[in-house]
Amino acid sequence: MPLVIALNRGRILAECLPMLAQAGIEPDEDVNASRKLIFPSRRDEHRLVIMRGADVPTYVTHGTADIGIVGKDTLLEAPPTAGYYERLDLNIGHCRIVTALPRDAAPERLAYQPAHNGAFRVATKFVSVSRGFFARKGRQVSIIPLAGTMEIAPTLNLADCIVDIVDTGNTLKANGLREHETIAHISSRLIVNRASMRTKFDEIEALISQLRAAVERRRQADGGGL
Ligand code: PRP
Repeated sequence: MPLVIALNRGRILAECLPMLAQAGIEPDEDVNASRKLIFPSRRDEHRLVIMRGADVPTYVTHGTADIGIVGKDTLLEAPPTAGYYERLDLNIGHCRIVTALPRDAAPERLAYQPAHNGAFRVATKFVSVSRGFFARKGRQVSIIPLAGTMEIAPTLNLADCIVDIVDTGNTLKANGLREHETIAHISSRLIVNRASMRTKFDEIEALISQLRAAVERRRQADGGGL
């Protein structure tokens, strides 16, 4: 049975494919030129399945995929389960989860205090991460769950603040927001189904050590090994 690897589509996919190739795993066709979502590897020892990041932990927890590559932001937000091990930081897909407010926000807003009576409103898709962050600060906030494009919520007066992913900061800037506090530094992680870790131990350990070597080579090439 080929090892099934669930991959987070989008930016993480673009960065992790060359790394998988270094570990000898290449899809049998160009994933970007196809609408297919399941690709056998060239040597047919692996099956690459491309999906939304939020679904990667679900497939791995259920054992439908043996391995997943997904952002730490998704893992922080996923329901806590004992279904997988987080085995490797791939050192790609770097970004941050931050709070962001309108560029001209008053100092009280930067202290997460509401403008009027009522709660300070936080729009986000990172509901659980946000709850944890504001609870640690002792701030009572009202979380407004959104599926995406959080950046418009303060402009449209749906929220006082957003909690979102920032990479270059261009999206915040283009929408009149500024980054305020960093909640978590994010990178992509390799997760392994618990049962697969026992039943396919040798194959999985071999793959992890090849990927670890690829991570190390990249680090050296970037000057990080000096
Ligand atoms: C993320 C995030 C921001 C954007 C930030 O969205 O939600 O919108 O990237 O990137 P920047 O700081 O480089 O501008 P993404 O494109 O991943 O899509 P999503 O809305 O599906 O999360």
